[in-house]
Amino acid sequence: MHKVAVLTSGGDASGMNAAIRAVVRSAVFRGIEAFGVHQGFEGLINEEIEGMNAGSVADIIHRGGTILQTSRSEGFKSIEGMQKAAERLWSRGIENLVVIGGNGSLRGGAEFSQLGINVIGIPATIDNDVPFTEAIGFDTAVNTVLEAINRVRDTASSHGRIFVIEVMGHDCGEIALAAGVAGGAESVLIPEIDTDFNQVLEKINQGIARGKLHSIIIVAEGVYPAHQLKNRIEAATGHDTRICILGHMQRGGTPTAVDRILASRMGKYAVDSIFKSERNIMVAGEGSRIFSVPLQTVVAGELTPKLELYEIARMLSI
Ligand code: F6P
Repeated sequence: MHKVAVLTSGGDASGMNAAIRAVVRSAVFRGIEAFGVHQGFEGLINEEIEGMNAGSVADIIHRGGTILQTSRSEGFKSIEGMQKAAERLWSRGIENLVVIGGNGSLRGGAEFSQLGINVIGIPATIDNDVPFTEAIGFDTAVNTVLEAINRVRDTASSHGRIFVIEVMGHDCGEIALAAGVAGGAESVLIPEIDTDFNQVLEKINQGIARGKLHSIIIVAEGVYPAHQLKNRIEAATGHDTRICILGHMQRGGTPTAVDRILASRMGKYAVDSIFKSERNIMVAGEGSRIFSVPLQTVVAGELTPKLELYEIARMLSI
């Protein structure tokens, strides 16, 4: 009989619980023994492993965060740490490990697989920056940002203010772009494209000239410090400007239906692939299609920026 352990690693993302549930329940359905590892790779090294059954994952599909908790493990970066982690699994006869996380976690998983453990990756990160796939958690984060934009827009209109809203994304502009387009922002500043500050000002001034009551500027973290941007805008336009840094609220909250369904499909696919003796893959999803990509290909892959969305944001914000 097969055995599978599942862990969540790196920054959490809403929908991780739905993915854990799908892995555990699919395993039980297939007669595969399931284990949960607490605290990601760190917990694997420290032997925080427990058996899981259908009941262990009851009542979690709607919950944000991860019941298994997560970490960014330093110990796992050394070969000694990895070996220790592998021994923890071997000593229990567990030959498969499902890693739910973002790029760093999948990279760690790919390296770990070289020790002989079959690693199946499930992409989960609000940043949506894993090559070849959509990631669990992105849709929820974008909807959270949208909710915030709607609220800020109300007060911005009342006061005739400019707002700079900073969103997360590590070094990727996916959240900013999606929320910017869906939220009708005047400008979206992302790391993939050099900021043309004059263009940002032009948009604001054009808007004011034609009677717009507010301007919303979305800036991805790391592109430009929000307070500096505010000062520059205020100095150049003379208009009252405020900042709003959304921070970790983007990572929490109940997952959207899109994320729950994606997580359920990916979790099931992960266990199916173990059942079919597929090895060392990441489960990928794009639209209605769920497929596998070799982990090594994912690690070597590069993300293509969504320039189409950038263009749409630019065109529609006149
Ligand atoms: O990768 C997810 C993410 O939320 C990034 O968008 C952000 O840069 C980072 O994690 C924040 O990490 P931490 O929770 O360790 O502050």
